[in-house]
Amino acid sequence: MVRKKPDVSPESIEKKKDAREAIEELRAAIHYHDHRYYVLDDPVISDPEYDELMQKLAALEEKFPDLQSPDSPTQRVGGEPREELGSVKHPSPMLSLAATYDEEEVERFVERCRERLNKKPEFVAEPKYDGLSVELLYEDGKLSVASTRGDGQTGEDVTANIKTIKEIPLELLGDSTPKWLVVRGEIFMNKDEFGDLNRRREENGESTFANPRNAAAGSLRQLDPNVTAKRPLHCFFYEVAEAKGRKLKTQREALDALAEWGFRINGEWTETCPSLDEIRGYHERLEQQRDHLEYEIDGAVFKVNGFSEQEKLGVRQRDPQWAIAYKFSPRQATTKLKSIRVQVGRTGQLTPVADLEPVGIGGVEVTHASLHNQSEIERKDIRVGDTVLVERAGDVIPQVVKPIEDDRDGSEKKFRMPEKCPVCGSEVVMGEDKKNAYCPNTTCEAQIRERVKHYASKEGMDIEGLGSKMVEQFADAGLIDSLSSIYHLKKEDLTSLEKIGDKSAENLLREIEGTRGRPLYRFLYSLGIPLVGEHLVRVLSQNYETLDDLMDASEAELREIEEVGPEVARSIATFFADEQNRKEIKNLREVGLELLNPDYRAEGALRPLEDMSIVFTGSLKRWTRGEAEELVQSLGGRSTSSVSDNTDYVVAGEGAGSKLNEAEERNVPVMSEEEFISFLEEHGADAGS
Ligand code: IVH
Repeated sequence: MVRKKPDVSPESIEKKKDAREAIEELRAAIHYHDHRYYVLDDPVISDPEYDELMQKLAALEEKFPDLQSPDSPTQRVGGEPREELGSVKHPSPMLSLAATYDEEEVERFVERCRERLNKKPEFVAEPKYDGLSVELLYEDGKLSVASTRGDGQTGEDVTANIKTIKEIPLELLGDSTPKWLVVRGEIFMNKDEFGDLNRRREENGESTFANPRNAAAGSLRQLDPNVTAKRPLHCFFYEVAEAKGRKLKTQREALDALAEWGFRINGEWTETCPSLDEIRGYHERLEQQRDHLEYEIDGAVFKVNGFSEQEKLGVRQRDPQWAIAYKFSPRQATTKLKSIRVQVGRTGQLTPVADLEPVGIGGVEVTHASLHNQSEIERKDIRVGDTVLVERAGDVIPQVVKPIEDDRDGSEKKFRMPEKCPVCGSEVVMGEDKKNAYCPNTTCEAQIRERVKHYASKEGMDIEGLGSKMVEQFADAGLIDSLSSIYHLKKEDLTSLEKIGDKSAENLLREIEGTRGRPLYRFLYSLGIPLVGEHLVRVLSQNYETLDDLMDASEAELREIEEVGPEVARSIATFFADEQNRKEIKNLREVGLELLNPDYRAEGALRPLEDMSIVFTGSLKRWTRGEAEELVQSLGGRSTSSVSDNTDYVVAGEGAGSKLNEAEERNVPVMSEEEFISFLEEHGADAGS
C-alpha cells in the first residue's frame, strides 16, 4: 500500500465537512506512522514530517473544536510499552511539548503568554535533548521506582536498569530532602561514546544503532540490567514533578534544587530569557554550538519560569501552554538512492557507498552515505532506485537508515558485491566474519592510497597538509606508491603539481621530516593493523619496549596481555608475519624513524596517576588538550570528557565552565593547571615545560 502524505493546509479549510475529511485523513496517517514507529520500530517518514502531520491535526481540531475526539492521536502522548518490563503509572501525566521550526510561531507563543498573563513573563531556556525521558521516584530520599514515559500515563519499569547509571543518585544529597520526590529528565548517550559502541559492535559482527537516541533507548529498555550497565548512559534532569514538603516557585529554583539533591542539570546551557530577543539569541548560539556539544540535541526549549504563571496558562490537549520546543533544521531527509559504488579501504575491505540524489540536511548538502557491507544492505533491504531515509548525526558520516518500501514501483534492483576488486581486478575474498568482502592484493593501488591517508592522519603520524585530497593528487601523479615513498618526495615533485607553491611544498616537507621523532604508539597506529585502534596501540607500547620486540611476539604471547583478545592477537601476529608489511616497515625504518617509546611500562616505572580518572576543562597553557590527555595516559591514568562520581580530579584551566560546577556538585577535587604541574613534579614525573 502506498501511503501518500495527506496534503492538508489547515488555514485554507473553512467548511466543517472538509475539515472532517481532512481530520480523518490526518488521524489515519498518524495512527499508521505511530504503528510503524513504536510497534514495528520502522518509521517511513522523518520526525519533522511526522511533527508536521501532528501540528496540522492539532490546528484543525482547535479550529473546529466539536470535531475533537478522545481517541485522536493529539489526545495521547505516544509510545507502546514493552510488556516484559512491567508497567508504572505516573503520578501525574508526562506531558509533551508543542514543537516548531518556525520563528514566527515562537513569537506568537511569547505574545500569547504575555496576553494571557497580562504581563511579560520571563522564560527559562534549555536544550531539547534528543534522548528518551524518564521519571524517577525517591521515597525517603532513596530511589525506589524509575520508568520510561510510555504513553504519558503509564510507562515501563526500568528501575533496575536506571540504577546501573552511575551519575544518577541512588540517594538524595543534602540535609532536608523531600520524603516523596518525583523528578524527570532525559537519558542519552554521548556522540563519541555512541561511535565507540557502534565500532565495537561492528567489530563483533553485531548490528549497529542508527543514532545515539536509538542506542540510549535500546540500552535502557533491556531486560538484563547487566547489559545496560555496560552502556555509557547519562541523564540531564529538567523537571521536578512533585516534591513533598519543598515549596518551589520557579523552574530555575527547581533546577537549583535538582542540583542540590545530586542530579545532573545542564548548568552550561540553562539561561534566563526576559524577552524574544534573548530567546532568538539563545536558539542561534545553541544551534551554532550543536556539533560541538558532546550530546545530541534537536532544538531549544523555552519554559515560562514562574510556576503560578505556568498554572495560569495550563495544558491544552497534550501540550503545556507555557512551554515550546523551537527545533533546529532537521537532520533526516528522504531522497533517491541513484547507485551503489564500491570503495576499497586500506585493509582491502570493500565498502558499498550509496550515491544519492543531493539533499540538504541541516545546512549541509549530502550526496553519499555509507552502507557498511553486503549483509547490512540485505538486512535493511536497500535497493538501487529506492527512496531512502538518510540521517546526518553531527559529524558522523551520513547513514542510510532504511528504504521507504511504500514508495517502490518494482523497478528497484537488489545489489550484489562484485566478484572482482573494482580497482585492481583481483578476485574478491570473503572475510572470516562472512560479512565483509576483501581485495586480497596488498599492493592494490586503492589500498595504498588509503594506507597513506591513515598514516598521515591526525591520530597517526599527524602530517599536517597531507590530507585525503593531497594524497589523491600525489598518487595520481605517480609520486607515492608506498608509505615510505612520502619520505622521498622532493620539492620539485610537489611544486610541479597544480595549486602547490614553494611555501606549501616547504611546509609539507618540514611536516614529513617532523614525523621522524613520533613515538612508537603513533607509528603503530599509522600502520593500520586491523582491529588495533588508538587505545590498543597504547596498550601494546606499554607492554613492548621496541618495535622489534612486538614484531617478534607470538600470537600466544600477545594473548597474555590483559586487553588483547584472541582475534586481536591473531590480527597483530598475522600483520607482522606478512612479507609485504615487513618490507614496508623495513623501508620506513631506513628513512630514519626514531620510534622512541615513552609508554613502556618497565617494572617499577613511574606511574603517579595509576588508575586515576582526570577531567580537563578550560584552556591550558602548557599543553594542548590532546597533549595533556596523552601525558595522563603515559603516567598510568585515564582522561575522560565528563565529570562523574568516578572522577578523581578536575584540572581547571582558564575559562573553565560547567565542568567546574559539576565537580563542585559531586565533591570532586579541583586543581589549577599550576597545582597539577606541581603534583606531577612532586611525584617525580616529567611534566614537560
Ligand atoms: S520538559 C513540559 N525539557 O521532549 C513537559 N522536555 O516533546 C515536557 N525533552 O518528553 C518536558 N529536552 O523527552 C523538557 N529540556 C527539556 C527537554 C525535554 C528534551 C523531551 C522530553 C519530552 C519531550 C517532549
